[in-house]
Amino acid sequence: MKINFVVSIFLVIEMLSSCNSKTESKDFTEEKNLIMDTHTLSNYQDLPIIKTHLDLSVNFQERKLKGSVTHEFDKNRKVKILKLDTKYLKIDSIQDSNGNNLEYSFGKFDELLGSPLSINLNPKSNAVVIFYETTDKSEALDWLVPNQTAGKMYPFMYTQGQSIFTRSWIPIQDSPGIRITYSAKIKTPKNMMAVMSAANPQEIDTNNVYSFKMNQPIPPYLIALAVGNLEFKAIDYRTGVYAEPSMVEECANELIDMGKMVDSAENLYGAYDWDRYDVIVLPPSFPFGGMENPRLTFATPTIIAGDRSLVSLIAHELAHSWSGNLVTNATWNDFWLNEGFTVYFERRIMESLYGRDYSEMLALLGFQDLQKQIDNSKPNMQLLRLNMKGKHPDDAMTDIAYEKGYFFLRMLEENIGRDKMDFFLKNYFQDHKFQTIITEDFLFYLKENLLDDNYKGLNVEQWVFESGIPENCPKVNSLRFKNAESSVEIFLESGAEELKLKSEVWSTHEWLHFLKHLPGSLKYDQLLDLDNVFNLSNSGNSEILAVWFLQSIKNNYRPAFENLEKFLMKIGRRKFLQPLYLELSKKEDHKIWAKKVYQKARNNYHYVSFNTIDKILN
Ligand code: BES
Ligand code: ZN
Repeated sequence: MKINFVVSIFLVIEMLSSCNSKTESKDFTEEKNLIMDTHTLSNYQDLPIIKTHLDLSVNFQERKLKGSVTHEFDKNRKVKILKLDTKYLKIDSIQDSNGNNLEYSFGKFDELLGSPLSINLNPKSNAVVIFYETTDKSEALDWLVPNQTAGKMYPFMYTQGQSIFTRSWIPIQDSPGIRITYSAKIKTPKNMMAVMSAANPQEIDTNNVYSFKMNQPIPPYLIALAVGNLEFKAIDYRTGVYAEPSMVEECANELIDMGKMVDSAENLYGAYDWDRYDVIVLPPSFPFGGMENPRLTFATPTIIAGDRSLVSLIAHELAHSWSGNLVTNATWNDFWLNEGFTVYFERRIMESLYGRDYSEMLALLGFQDLQKQIDNSKPNMQLLRLNMKGKHPDDAMTDIAYEKGYFFLRMLEENIGRDKMDFFLKNYFQDHKFQTIITEDFLFYLKENLLDDNYKGLNVEQWVFESGIPENCPKVNSLRFKNAESSVEIFLESGAEELKLKSEVWSTHEWLHFLKHLPGSLKYDQLLDLDNVFNLSNSGNSEILAVWFLQSIKNNYRPAFENLEKFLMKIGRRKFLQPLYLELSKKEDHKIWAKKVYQKARNNYHYVSFNTIDKILN
């Protein structure tokens, strides 16, 4: 309702301010298109589910979840059919709340969206209970054998819902345009702990049954489950870490600043609305750096560097507790509302904890990523507001949403002043909390509450609806990076030994900047020199390793390939795998080598990653 209202106003303004007169019917379809999520086949707008209960048992032998899901919806409804998204699920039967069987049917299967499931409702019941099980094709699920875990004793499983994978483990209206509360009962094998994006246990349950509650309404892509031999370690009164027992100390030590991050975030943009904030460090197959599942961020173990140098990722996922989880993009076309705001918020947290010169390094790395992204994207993918119809929404996960989004907000900050900007953002989160919004809602709010007459002068529409980087994009200066750049010259002239003293004070980010700034082609001896002096092929820092391996492939520096193979075998994080396999696929002999490695490694990757790499290598 609210969205409709705001969009209408926006369209009226648009209509008044544009000279070509549009017909009534065109406006209506435009309005519908704007708020319509084209990545669901469900009837989420006509009859949205409001409450969900899961009752599932976790079967590691058969690699499936089996049980039931109950969905509740409005009693006073006109609609006779509930239409849900499903993909690769096996439905056994469907009942109403009194145990009467209901008739149901599947619509045509769509490769991208799955099969819609239509259920004929009992007019007297406001719930359906669906008995079902997942299959070996369920894309959300990753099932690991003991050998793929740190402890090597117990299997492990986790789900990844964003963007449209929840439908492959729960029949549901899988759109970010709805919000539901949920509860769950999860039965596990012995010695395993289940955790969810909900209130969580802190110890293993001897009866092997876990109960969960998420009382704040969330979009379905944020329902998440992980099961493994887990241990919990508190960091402060409201933050803590879950990990396998052999890693939990190390993880807690790495993430020791989590409590301070939550404090700092609250100081910036208002109270943390989700009670606890915990992180689970998953096995290395996890395809993302982090995933902002509410109350419990899912994270890759590749951020555990030993020196706390990669914790901005936690600031990022925490920031999503406001941007994304409290205020949610209503469609995947508006993905930048989730990610651009989150990167801005993340860097503000990092600045408040570690200082401006630190956060400026992150911003400059971000700007370089943005430029590269622009160079490699078609114009229609360079907009903040996208049209992802017919495409996989995950393809919107580019540096346009993240970094162009960030620089847009930073541009506003620099023009308006930080105090006003912070006041505006705090109100933005407060006024939209537990709501889903589209880009136009935000622009309307921006106009009303921050910009007024300034709106046109700041190229807002150009930022959001046009390709490229507008000329009022803020400039980032980093002295620490200038220093790293001059080190490139020193290295090229005098060799790696000369850098030893200088680089002693470098953070990971200066190293990354240095390595990325090496010239396109280097001699074998130069790489060998760097490797000998700094042992880069054995770096314990995944970000440095990934950039180093990329340079090694580009320059055919074969001594690094042994460790590159180990890396590709173990790590499933797509952000690392994608550029490495892409670079390897450029030369025939590298490609043959890559295919051989991939044959063995593919099994260690989540669907998200192997689906991407399949396309690169074939
Ligand atoms: N929500 C994203 C992950 C995501 C995006 C999953 C789109 C599926 C589809 C998460 O917050 C994220 O952005 N993760 C980044 C890390 C961040 C520091 C930029 C990642 O995983 O690399
Ligand atoms: Zn994010």
